[in-house]
Amino acid sequence: MPHPETWWKDAVVYQIYPVSFLDSNGDGFGDLNGITSKLDYLQDLGVNVVWLSPIYKSPLADMGYDISDYRDIDPRYGTLDDWDKLLAGLHGRHMKLMMDLVVNHTSDEHAWFEQSKSAKENPKRDWYIWRPPKYDVDGNRRPPNNWKAQFQGSAWEYDETTDEYYLHLYHTKQPDLNWENPDVRQAVWELMRFWLDRGCDGFRMDVINLISKVEGLPDAPITIPEDEYQDATEFYANGPRVHEFLQEMHSKVLSQYDIITVGETPFTHSASELARYVLPANKELNMVFQFELVDLDSPRTAQRMPFIHRPWKLSEFREIVGRWQTFKRDEGFWNAVFIENHDQGRSVTRWGNDADAWRVLSAKMLAMLEVTLGGTQYVFQGQELGLRNFPRSWGIEEYKDVASQNIYHEILEQRRKRESGGTGEEDSQIDMSDIMDGLQMKARDHGRIPMQWDATGHAGFTTGTPWMRVNDDDYPHWNAALQLDDTSSVRSFWKNALRLRKEHQVLIYGDFQDLDPQNEDVFAYTRTYRGVRAVVALNFTSKDIVFNLPSGEIMPGISPLFGNYPVGNGDVQGNELKLRPYEGTVYLSTPDTAT
Ligand code: NOJ
Repeated sequence: MPHPETWWKDAVVYQIYPVSFLDSNGDGFGDLNGITSKLDYLQDLGVNVVWLSPIYKSPLADMGYDISDYRDIDPRYGTLDDWDKLLAGLHGRHMKLMMDLVVNHTSDEHAWFEQSKSAKENPKRDWYIWRPPKYDVDGNRRPPNNWKAQFQGSAWEYDETTDEYYLHLYHTKQPDLNWENPDVRQAVWELMRFWLDRGCDGFRMDVINLISKVEGLPDAPITIPEDEYQDATEFYANGPRVHEFLQEMHSKVLSQYDIITVGETPFTHSASELARYVLPANKELNMVFQFELVDLDSPRTAQRMPFIHRPWKLSEFREIVGRWQTFKRDEGFWNAVFIENHDQGRSVTRWGNDADAWRVLSAKMLAMLEVTLGGTQYVFQGQELGLRNFPRSWGIEEYKDVASQNIYHEILEQRRKRESGGTGEEDSQIDMSDIMDGLQMKARDHGRIPMQWDATGHAGFTTGTPWMRVNDDDYPHWNAALQLDDTSSVRSFWKNALRLRKEHQVLIYGDFQDLDPQNEDVFAYTRTYRGVRAVVALNFTSKDIVFNLPSGEIMPGISPLFGNYPVGNGDVQGNELKLRPYEGTVYLSTPDTAT
């Protein structure tokens, strides 16, 4: 059978962004004890696995994705003892814990890097990627190549101690490890075993498809002529040795534990490229996070402009969903189903409609999409409440993410230079409203805002000063406490939807078929598994729509399972299905009636 049922396939994984989940000691940062105090909340929702974004020691240049000690907890989050208590609390409730493994790069404050940069002869020199400077015709020192960093500027940072540059694909404080060096790989296997032997149940692997760079680190082609540095993802995404490295990881570590593994694989929309990470025969990972769907509303230009919002069509959206849902199922390809995480704007704002009139309905409709797709289910903190992006009126100072700050200031600087005729001196009023529009829709900050627990000060997130502003217009009337008491809330809906997903394996394992690929209003599809059929219809618009079911064969013997309107779900007459604004409805056949 192509899809043996396994715990990590059936699982509902809930991602916690610890700094913003719950602060137990009033310092303004969420912490492990805060998480432990909410385990009943998570269990009640139907969560099986908790994925923690990094809680290791870190200077927080990239909010913990810059690790300075892999074997310790950052004091802001607590201690190893607190981690043990969290784990015991989870295991005691039959839940599991997945840790974030960030090993493409470390912090520049990691002891490995401090040694590496101290001298060319240091034994750890080759643990990172160092190159001598280049010099232009005028004798100016230049980086070794023209690669652009993900957070803007050159991907190389000069270090005068040894007169060389080191590579950092992200922040200057995130030097890339040199995976070519077997000692580096050995050190990674050891730190993985450290957490697995302590009881952790798996890893989400940060940018794991970037660990192997093309030999010679050649210049990237000029695709952004006005920019000094160029998009070089083709030279480091899915590089020449990445599969060899992951197979080594599998044989040395992963194969010895019963765990869940998911690789984050950005800059890659090709399913066949990503198949190699996932197909069981290759012995690498269980699944990957691919970003084709959540990149849909970004411009499709060579230069990545993730913060610019591009209007999208439902036909594009469903084509992507359908392609991944049906990809190499016979060979065992397995999806990770997600639409939010800490790097994304909120789904109800981007893919639904977060206006007051439609927020609840469209958040529930998107929940229906998620729970009726095949793959392992991921829910991001606050998604179960229908949290929306914070308001457009907030200034750039409320955006704490280095990615938002850097892009804003780089563009501000460019505009300043242009308006002052190249001198860069004039401090005129520069119009940045288009950039702020983009950030309001797409910035990573929207997923990082403190959780809205209740209507008390700072949304019940902290008794101190929150590290990031809470959504103060929203939380008094939009919070977990209110939703827990309300059977018609988004959270109550998610809880019920997750329960139904687990009860009906067709929703997890079924074959997928799009019923009307060109339809721009209603996303309708079937799932079929072991003689059971589910029919899903989701109205993505704020209009009443009559959807014509393509064939009389679809519905016989089928009855409504659930929907997002309080009454009258599943109004079918003949081949006509009437859907109200943002209405979603799911029907289910009995085993005998599906064909
Ligand atoms: C992906 C993480 O999700 C993101 O938050 C981080 O900035 C980069 N990887 C670099 O680690």
